[in-house]
Amino acid sequence: MSVFQGAYRAHTNIALIKYWGKANKDLFIPTTSSLSLTLDALYTDTRVTFSNELDADIFYLNNQLRNEAETAKISKFLDMFRQEAGVDLRAKVESVNHVPTAAGLASSSSAFSALAAATRQALNLEDQISDQALSTFARQGSGSATRSIFGGFVEWQKGTTNENSMAVEIDDASWDVGMVIMAINTAEKRVSSREGMAHTMQTSPFYPEWVRQNMIDLERIKAAIAKQDFQLMGEIAEANAMRMHATTMASDPSFTYFEPDTIKAIQAVQDLRATGVLAYYTIDAGPNVKVLCKASQMDEVEAFFAERFKDMNFIQTTAGPGIKPLDRWEYDDGAIL
Ligand code: ADP
Ligand code: DP6
Repeated sequence: MSVFQGAYRAHTNIALIKYWGKANKDLFIPTTSSLSLTLDALYTDTRVTFSNELDADIFYLNNQLRNEAETAKISKFLDMFRQEAGVDLRAKVESVNHVPTAAGLASSSSAFSALAAATRQALNLEDQISDQALSTFARQGSGSATRSIFGGFVEWQKGTTNENSMAVEIDDASWDVGMVIMAINTAEKRVSSREGMAHTMQTSPFYPEWVRQNMIDLERIKAAIAKQDFQLMGEIAEANAMRMHATTMASDPSFTYFEPDTIKAIQAVQDLRATGVLAYYTIDAGPNVKVLCKASQMDEVEAFFAERFKDMNFIQTTAGPGIKPLDRWEYDDGAIL
């Protein structure tokens, strides 16, 4: 029996300058570059086992065998690595999300980074595929996964080809940067990011302006990060998120990821800021609101919101690391091999 195994952890990331549209759908080359913060508290663990005793790929997510359509997506992803390694073995993929799936909390970003890294390890491709090159593989599972290969602040340079649309480390974000996530609704969303961005791109008259402005926002936020200017960074991130949602609302037929509590949360952030606390919101393809604040003020920020939103769950997090190999698989007998 030949068995090849790899297991990795990847953390989710939240974009401060958003990716919202593909210039090339097949290769996942985006219309704009984007920039994110990798999060410590939310992550995915994935183990990949290639074996000559399997005649089809199988995929377990959170200990449940997944359907054909989802497995086909995984198979297509594994094919890139099989081709690179010149092998034709099928694999069992086991993945555990420590983040709600498909709720706008970026499960697909950690998912495809962890899968890419575990597969590279299983097939002994470390010498052939650098971390930066790995980000171009992760990209083709889910665009936002490009950025989860690295920790801290990460830029996804849009590039023009399969090889140069990749992640670049910007800053380790160790300067008192935190995030408080207001978990407004963690059920699976109705419109996936993929459908939402395609519909917006096709039908929103604001879309070309979004692309133009995003480039300006990106350059400005990079300068703010380089100066560790928290206020400026937060202001740019907040404006950029709203520009993305405005583009989406202007699509035809119009739609929004916002729920009533999303708007209430936005107002709460504005009220908190009026008390002198540096706190800025960002929102992805879902109703949840992520508040960028100083790591040292996360308790204060959460207490302010908890007062207004009695039953809400909060997740506090600082900046997280890039991909890490797992030396034990804690979900069964703990052994890797
Ligand atoms: P999210 O906001 O959580 O990133 P998306 O709609 O962008 O939501 O992506 C969710 C999709 O990502 C899921 O429907 C699933 O296909 C895929 N996904 C999530 N977690 C995993 C995982 N651990 N392994 C493989 N695919 C995953
Ligand atoms: C709003 O990366 O989930 O979170 O590439 O189609 O898988 P696909 O989309 P995905 O979209 C993320 C959109 C976003 C913004 C961002 O993360 O930059």
